[in-house]
Amino acid sequence: MSASLKKVVLFLLVGITLGSLLLTPNARAAKPHKVDVIAHRGASGYAPENTVAAFDKARKMKADYIELDVQMSRDGKLVVIHDTTVNRTTDIDSKAPVKVKDLTLKELCKLDAGSYFGPQFTGERIPTFEKVLDRYKGKIGLLIELKEPALYPGIEEKVAAALKKRKMDKPKNGKVIVQSFDFNSVRRIHELLPSVPTGVLTSRPSDLTDAKLNEFAGYANYVNAHLGNVAADPTLVGRIHALGMKITPWTVRSRDEVPPLLQAGVDGIVTDYPDYVPKKIR
Ligand code: G3P
Ligand code: CA
Repeated sequence: MSASLKKVVLFLLVGITLGSLLLTPNARAAKPHKVDVIAHRGASGYAPENTVAAFDKARKMKADYIELDVQMSRDGKLVVIHDTTVNRTTDIDSKAPVKVKDLTLKELCKLDAGSYFGPQFTGERIPTFEKVLDRYKGKIGLLIELKEPALYPGIEEKVAAALKKRKMDKPKNGKVIVQSFDFNSVRRIHELLPSVPTGVLTSRPSDLTDAKLNEFAGYANYVNAHLGNVAADPTLVGRIHALGMKITPWTVRSRDEVPPLLQAGVDGIVTDYPDYVPKKIR
């Protein structure tokens, strides 16, 4: 090869390499990488959300984590349910909204939390938080969301005590993360359980500026934004990673939503359908 041809080849090679680096939003996006599969409210596409049936199904489907929503009964017991009212997901006999916080544990546990999803799930109950910890500790990761914690003063202390009682507050806690849309609550959990990873939840672009991300980095390990935020801002995943945090966007309910998230370099995918995430990258 002549000297001038060598120069041209070298010039082209350098150009192609630089070009591909500039086009890649962040380094992790360049090749397929392992992501955590997080079963949203359990495998809630296949079984009634936030029930043992949905959590067991997630385990069967080899999810890495189950996500669950924690609230409190009138008598101060921690229960696993998403809405602040029981009407959508139970057989409560009332047209008027009935609040979780207005029912005792006994009253909540009488409700059927499966039949709304399908007759084969009749008899599923609203689980207590302690039951979920005991049943799944060390068997699958737990992404614990404090749902509307401002309605339940002292809920952070109770969640912390339940985790401590089971030594799930230690650095090697078998994959426990606590998250919330309520940032004050996340801060409080970080104070109470400094070794437990925490996450802030948001879908607001105004929470995803560099200034806000810097603030979150002071007390959170995850910034769990909506999948629409990832699509809207190609710099988001890289900016979160640059601050040493991770991102597990929510909520995948269609197979088409998976590839763009993988391409963006996310750390986990929150989904009602754990089987939508291809096995080879789990
Ligand atoms: O993990 C994210 C997700 O649980 C947040 O949304 O409303 O389903 O609790 P939501
Ligand atoms: Ca949730």
